[in-house]
Amino acid sequence: MVQRLDKMIASQGTLSRSETVRLIRSGQVTVDGVVCRDAARKVEETCTVTVAGEALCYRRFSYIMMNKPSGILCVSRDPRAKTVLDLLPPALQRKGLFPAGRLDKDTVGLVLLTDDGEFAHRLLAPKSDIMKRYLVRLDGPLTEEHVRLFAGEIVLADGTRCRPAELRILEYGEQPLAEIGITEGRYHQIKRMFGTVDRGVVWLKRIAIGPLALDPLLSEGEARLLTEKELSNLTNSTLFVQHR
Ligand code: URA
Repeated sequence: MVQRLDKMIASQGTLSRSETVRLIRSGQVTVDGVVCRDAARKVEETCTVTVAGEALCYRRFSYIMMNKPSGILCVSRDPRAKTVLDLLPPALQRKGLFPAGRLDKDTVGLVLLTDDGEFAHRLLAPKSDIMKRYLVRLDGPLTEEHVRLFAGEIVLADGTRCRPAELRILEYGEQPLAEIGITEGRYHQIKRMFGTVDRGVVWLKRIAIGPLALDPLLSEGEARLLTEKELSNLTNSTLFVQHR
């Protein structure tokens, strides 16, 4: 794909368009080894571009992790309520971004945003068995019997049969804390699963999607690009799903 040099650099999400133009004009950008001061220069994806001495590792698509706060909708747009896209800093805003997978309005934690439809499709495919991990606080005690039940087949109130879930009790007591891993993403799934054993979810946080763990340095509402390693680990796990 051929595009303007300033657009290509700014699309990578670390510099704004005006910062990019400033760097190009000051002679800090090279294309195939030669300084280029023309922000409008047309470049191919295959060109070798450096910015302030650093090689630009060009990605056609964006992959962003966000630590979603409570009270924010996990959709692209909503005329009335704030969405995860509204929280992105300007440098990470890019046309066509959408959340790859939903969290409830009151659920916090890891959300992936991308403009790569094929990748999202593989990640969200019903056949995908990518494990999503959550921390959950409940309104009543948990026992090893619950762990055993969840490892079997929980049947939701509407008759839906759930795949086995990995439940691990982290804190016992009247409001226990547990970690739960599920390979599906049905509407309100975790809340409905605990509903079958008469437990209400008082707090829910997604902490991982397959090999991708929520960065503990991201405060609620913050977002950052995935690293190369995070992206390749995740892509490899989605490709694995597609080929089975
Ligand atoms: N299960 C739920 O009940 N809610 C979420 O947001 C995610 C999983």
